[in-house]
Amino acid sequence: MQLVIDSANIEKIKYLQEYFPIDGVTTNPTIIVKEKKPFLPLLQEIRDIIGNEKELFVQTVGSQAEEMVKEAQFINKELSGNIIVKIPVTTEGIKAIKLLKEQGIRTLATTVYTPMSAYVAAKAGAEYVAPYVNRIDNLTGNGIQVVKDIVTIFKQHELSCKLLGASFGNVQQIQQVCLAGAEGITAAPELIEAMLTIPSVDANVQQFKDDWLALYGKGAINLMETK
Ligand code: E4P
Repeated sequence: MQLVIDSANIEKIKYLQEYFPIDGVTTNPTIIVKEKKPFLPLLQEIRDIIGNEKELFVQTVGSQAEEMVKEAQFINKELSGNIIVKIPVTTEGIKAIKLLKEQGIRTLATTVYTPMSAYVAAKAGAEYVAPYVNRIDNLTGNGIQVVKDIVTIFKQHELSCKLLGASFGNVQQIQQVCLAGAEGITAAPELIEAMLTIPSVDANVQQFKDDWLALYGKGAINLMETK
């Protein structure tokens, strides 16, 4: 199951790449403009940090299918490594996904709010769909149920499309998406870090250390130094 960073912030990506078992980075136009940098060098910098193997997801901004296709070709030409082009599930977007599939350009269908959008995108040839869990919940829908239904439809109809859960407001939603059978999740750096923010762990580790030092003395800062 993939763990993907939903951010274009260089410092946060560097940190998470060093400490967490990260599989890739997703971006969207809003995420990119937050960094206030020229977008192509920014994306190439992210690529340099994560390496060529990990997937880098870049979204189109055009409204018409032909524009999206040209943008997808441009992104693939300008950036090195494993690129997935994010295409919104508008009617034009679905047409673009079909055309890009014929050209062998890999896509993720984004802004997915319903199982039927996911179904159409999968049939059109999207490699991934990204249901927007928290945005669905904020519309008083049920983001987790949408994810479960997509998983069921893909399984029952043997659609090879993968589900990358997106748009999260808390770790509980992420856990529910993992349990529902998603192939991956993409989350903001703060939420990825929050997966390990458990005060009891720090308290336990401190207790283990205190117990050790109580017998072996203050010099025993690690196993090698313990006499
Ligand atoms: C990722 O692909 C999406 O663009 C992103 O998860 C949206 O998240 P948000 O609802 O927190 O903006």
